Amino acid sequence: MEQICVIGVGYVGLVTGACFADLGNRVIALDVNEKRIEGLKQGVMPIYEPGLKELVERNVRAGRLFFTTSYAEALKGTGYVFIAVGTPSGVNGEADMQYVAAAARSIAENMTAPLIIVNKSTVPVGTGDWVADIVRSAQPRPLPFSVVSCPEFLREGTAIADFMNPHRTVLGSLDRQAAEKVAQLHLPLNAPILITDLRTAEMIKYASNAFLATKISFINEIADICEALGADVREVAKGMGYDKRIGPAMLEAGLGWGGSCFPKDVKALAYMAEEKGVPPSILKTVMATNYERRRMAVRKVDAMLGGLNGKVIGLLGLAFKPNTDDMREAPSIDIAHGLIAGGARLRAYDPVAMENARALLPAVDMFDDPYVMAKGCDALIVVTEWNEFKQLDLKKLKRQMRTPVLFDGRNVYDPVEMRKLGFVYQGVGRGYEAKE
Ligand code: NAD
Ligand code: UGA
Repeated sequence: MEQICVIGVGYVGLVTGACFADLGNRVIALDVNEKRIEGLKQGVMPIYEPGLKELVERNVRAGRLFFTTSYAEALKGTGYVFIAVGTPSGVNGEADMQYVAAAARSIAENMTAPLIIVNKSTVPVGTGDWVADIVRSAQPRPLPFSVVSCPEFLREGTAIADFMNPHRTVLGSLDRQAAEKVAQLHLPLNAPILITDLRTAEMIKYASNAFLATKISFINEIADICEALGADVREVAKGMGYDKRIGPAMLEAGLGWGGSCFPKDVKALAYMAEEKGVPPSILKTVMATNYERRRMAVRKVDAMLGGLNGKVIGLLGLAFKPNTDDMREAPSIDIAHGLIAGGARLRAYDPVAMENARALLPAVDMFDDPYVMAKGCDALIVVTEWNEFKQLDLKKLKRQMRTPVLFDGRNVYDPVEMRKLGFVYQGVGRGYEAKE
């Protein structure tokens, strides 16, 4: 059993803290957001993540997981401190490092014994050395410490399972012994462990996210070609995915990628490349293709309705993906703005993201029930593929609508069934529809 401090109780920090506690460690989770820490002490989760509340409560009850806003309290007796604060996009696409810098300074000011500082945030290549400089210069008296990069690969919505069953653990450090100690903490996860240098570990994270984003943008381009040529992208992706060199994951065509990570990380990697004079031509195309998906959705609905002006359009789903309340860079935001700019009035239903969406989309009327939301709609758009949308009573949904037009941006429904039900239906990349 080790004592671990985790800084930041967001998607990564809270999941990391709760999972390390569940593995038997004593974990102190710290955040500067007092409301978040007060809430956690009362059992209120700051984010929606399936299974997280139960995991947190179990470990709090077992006396393995604690919450605080005090760095002095959090670092007392702690051998490892994990930094898991946000690294959002700055004005030019670079990663905004102010939260990492603040965390590093607070660690330096409050540490009272040797410490291994583990960076879990996604940070520009070179950050490990930079954090070491900050800590060194902010320490009131010199105490030994090491910096280890340990990028996180979990996904929102399946964060606990991803943390507990990673495909790999990547560790980077100039101090091999420190990296090996951090490796020990990860042994119960039974994943391959790659120990490398700091910069390489930091780069592995960006390269991985950029590759996955590229894979999605690639299948989206294939979807457009399928649509034009009369092929079905879902079957094409299935056929491609059987090839082990390709694999079936991240081949779902639709409205493209959003969220708090792919957009900012691809942008930050392109920024780093350009700063060094390396033209990131693939990354730029991948980004442009992705944002075009959102405009494509607006154009498709416009064409299906014969104009947007005065039309009432309902959005099924707002979150950037299912099983999360995260609205950061959600395609729904740009799609809603595009439809509103065309003169449409918007309604929406999302199982958990509406609270976060209200401030971002004040002109969109939100409803607690998808059938009530669909009432009087000229068209519906599936923006997020929540499981509950697969179970909707489609006949009932259609009866509510003024005209039964449905653009399925995530290919949730079967085109043939939808037509049988009397919907004017279009999916993404399902060109064989044209041949029927
Ligand atoms: P988040 O915004 O959900 O949470 C960050 C937390 O850090 C907030 O609660 C904030 O109050 C706290 N914080 C900010 N400054 C602080 C400070 N000085 N001291 C203590 N707490 C502070 O962020 P997130 O989504 O968990 O992402 C964190 C990092 O992990 C990012 O670099 C992100 O790119 C990376 N990442 C995220 C995911 C994901 O799925 N969200 C997956 C892998 C990696
Ligand atoms: C992604 C990565 O998958 C994680 O490995 C990584 O740790 C994380 O970013 C991060 O660095 O924060 P996440 O953003 O939570 O995780 O979600 P994904 O499931 O990867 O989906 C990202 C976006 O791509 C979503 O908007 C989703 O709708 C879209 N997507 C995903 C597709 O359009 N098609 C697919 O086949 C898969």
